Amino acid sequence: MLIAPSVLTADFSNLKRELDSIKSADYLHLDIMDGHFVPNISFGSHISKMIGKATDLKLDVHLMVTDPLNWVDEFSFDGVEYITIHLEANDVDETLLKIKKNGKKVGLSIKPNTPIEKLIPYVGEIDLALIMTVEPGFGGQKFIDRQMVKVIELNQVRKDLKLNYMIEVDGGINLETIKICHLAGVDIAVAGSYLFNLENREKGIAELKKCDV
Ligand code: DX5
Ligand code: ZN
Repeated sequence: MLIAPSVLTADFSNLKRELDSIKSADYLHLDIMDGHFVPNISFGSHISKMIGKATDLKLDVHLMVTDPLNWVDEFSFDGVEYITIHLEANDVDETLLKIKKNGKKVGLSIKPNTPIEKLIPYVGEIDLALIMTVEPGFGGQKFIDRQMVKVIELNQVRKDLKLNYMIEVDGGINLETIKICHLAGVDIAVAGSYLFNLENREKGIAELKKCDV
């Protein structure tokens, strides 16, 4: 299992120290919220670029915004590997093309109430499918385990169509729920509050990675 810590619940007044505490992670997940697509505001591209400079981890940008087309260029900076937008947002097709054109890997996410059938038509065009395991907007919520049905379906489709997109989950990940994700076939797990509430984050990351034992 690859682990992508979300800095949303990190201590931003000690950002460098927080980033240094999760060096063994695989990606750094950045939650971008516009106060419209979700009922919360986080941070924008300026702070994201600073974060990118302060870490060696590749960035996994999660745009929870109504109009991602307006933001893709801003977030196509060095160090960004994935830009993920929501299927429930505006101009999905055009935005996916723009992400690709900017040389970034394309991610597409669905909220818990969006059926997997809506995502399936896009699987041939994406590098990553992000299944939300909480309602987007806030860290620290409870994992919705019925979302694993979507992960199982995405795995089957990937196999049947011989595709190789990554399957990521986001929200409510801890040492218990990651085992469920592993069994369902998740490749990347985002972990926010669980990791940043730990004293020893490196140990926490190692334990999450070993979820199959
Ligand atoms: C929720 C965000 C998540 C969140 C995860 O809107 O997309 O990335 O920060 O936080 P935890 O792990 O606390 O659920
Ligand atoms: Zn996220």
